[in-house]
Formats: sequence, C-alpha cells, structure tokens
Amino acid sequence: MVVYSPGRANLIGEHTDYNDGYILPFAIRRYIKFEIEPAKKFKIFSHQQKKGIEFEKPAKTNSWADYVIGMIVKLQEHGYKVEPFTLNIDSDLPMGAGLSSSAALEVGTGYAISQMMGYEINREELANIAHECEVEFVGVRCGIMDQYAVALSKEHHALFIDTMTREYKYVPLHLDDTKLYLINSGVKHELGSSEYNKRREECEMALEVMKKTTFRDVTIEDVEKIQDHLLKRRALHVVTENERVLKTLSALEDDNLTLVGKYLYESHYSLKDNYEVSCEEIDFLIEKLREYSNVLGARIVGAGFGGSIIVLARGNFEGIFERVAESYKIKFGITPTLLNVETSEGVHRV
Ligand code: GLA
Repeated sequence: MVVYSPGRANLIGEHTDYNDGYILPFAIRRYIKFEIEPAKKFKIFSHQQKKGIEFEKPAKTNSWADYVIGMIVKLQEHGYKVEPFTLNIDSDLPMGAGLSSSAALEVGTGYAISQMMGYEINREELANIAHECEVEFVGVRCGIMDQYAVALSKEHHALFIDTMTREYKYVPLHLDDTKLYLINSGVKHELGSSEYNKRREECEMALEVMKKTTFRDVTIEDVEKIQDHLLKRRALHVVTENERVLKTLSALEDDNLTLVGKYLYESHYSLKDNYEVSCEEIDFLIEKLREYSNVLGARIVGAGFGGSIIVLARGNFEGIFERVAESYKIKFGITPTLLNVETSEGVHRV
C-alpha cells in the first residue's frame, strides 16, 4: 500500500500557534511517499538517508528514524495495536527548507500504519498523536500547525486554525493570475531549535509580566505597558500577527490580493524586527523582491533562521526570480531554488 504525505507552507500566522493564536497553513504538492506492508519484524528504510533500521521493540535512536518509531510508540499509548511492518520511505520534499518534512514523516507514518491495520483514526486525532510524538518523543516543543496542515489540508484551500480551540475552517484560495511561490534560501542556521525554544519562553515571560494567562486576552495597550524592550517586541509580534491573519482572511474573501501581499510584507518585518527569527540571507531576498511591483508580498515561512520564503506575485515571476537568484548567488555563493506552489490535499492513499 502506498501513502503520500505532503509538506506544508503557511500563508500567514507565524509563531502564533504556541501562543493560542491564528494560523493559515496549507499542504503543498511535495510529498514523502510510504510503502508499507506487514512483516515479521519492523524494518524501515529511507532512500534519502540511504539507511535502514531493523528492530523488534520500538525504542528511541536519536536519529531520523525517531519520527517513525515515535509514531509506533504513541499509537500504542493511544490504544492502537501496531503489528510489525516493512516501511520504505522516499521523498521529493526538501528537508531543512522549513516545509515541515518532520510532520510529513510523522503524520504519513501514522496514516500508513492505520491503513495497514484497518483503523479508522480521524484526522484530528492523527494530527494530535503526531504532535505528541514530536513534543514528547522527539523532544521538539513545536506548536500544532505542521501536523494539522499535513493531516487536514484540502486542495485549493488554506486551513484557518484557531490554535486555542483547535477549531478550523477551509478558506478558498482564488488566486487567478496571481500565484504563490516558495523560494528555498538554501541556508539553515544551527541556532534554530534553541532560539525557537527561547522565543517560547520569552512569550511566556511576557504573559507573566502582563499578568495574563493567554495571548488571546492581550491587547496592544497591554503590550505597550511592558517595560522590557525585548519582551515587548516579542509580544507585539504575536498580537499584530494575529490581527494580520484575521485581516488576511477578509482580504481573501474580498479577492483583494494586493492587500494580502501587504500583510505578508508586514508579517516579515515583524518577524525580522520584533521576533528576530529572520537572517541576513532571507532579508536580502525580501529586499530584492520588493523592487518588483509584480511581487505583491513575501515573507519568511516556518520557524525561521533560514529555510524558505513564500511569495505572492503576478505575471512572469520566473524571470524576476532568475535576476534575484543571480544577485543572491553573487553575494552569498548559494543557489536558491524556486518551487511553484500548488496546494494539495492532506495525507492520503493512492
Ligand atoms: C515551526 C513549528 C510550528 C510553528 C512554526 C512557526 O514550523 O513546528 O509549530 O511554531 O515553526 O510559526
């Protein structure tokens, strides 16, 4: 049996998913592919890693295989028996590009196992189990965005999620002659995961200073009163980013893509200046893109510190990309790559 598990991008709503905020991600047509069949013991092989692993009892390995092993463990904890299997993993989803290959691996493994075992696990439950796997087994304190997007997305739609209640709705993306692109900067800064956890702590500290228990109750006036400049900027990002997600929803409803683009740029500058999760290479790409009026908006995507940017542009963007890529290569010696975004349904069987 073959299962496809997509990567994800996020239109807007960055670093809000662990702050009870709003997000607007969608799945992209780049997949991790799983071939699964029952076997006498567990055998997992990854074509990208060019490595396999065999075991009878699942246990942590501190390697890529933990995303798969963690799903076996978590499914069992949730009362789902998992019989041994052979799992072959292949992928055209770039890793380390901020497109959530880890969530694709977790959700895809969970879905493949459920299909093999004949379980009807609903997609929210699958996303929640995969999120538990990432936080408790792999040990990354991420929010719910990636696993929800991979499990629940629908073609031609973005997924609006209120991460406080985990309620969601599908938002049609009518883009016409305007298109979304992803540019992989080709850089990934090592600091990424420790800085991510630091941002979470800073947000918790900001809440404490404001004497609030959730960002949902925080207003701009509350933020203005914070004395500490760093905490103030972190909180300012969260509050304004949530507002931008809601404004983007209205702009999409009105088919006002120029306005959507403006919010993307605003989001980027807030991530850069207030949340400080951008980097020199990404900022260079954004500034170069701003020189073109056909580019309606762009911003860094995902956790940050490298990875990809999302671009909303009309007309012939490939030509613009080539020029921007050329100056990027001259400055940093790295060739960025362009991905034409097509939305995808969430994890599925073929
Ligand atoms: C990573 C995390 C997500 C989310 C983003 C930032 O992708 O896995 O949960 O926090 O960063 O928006």
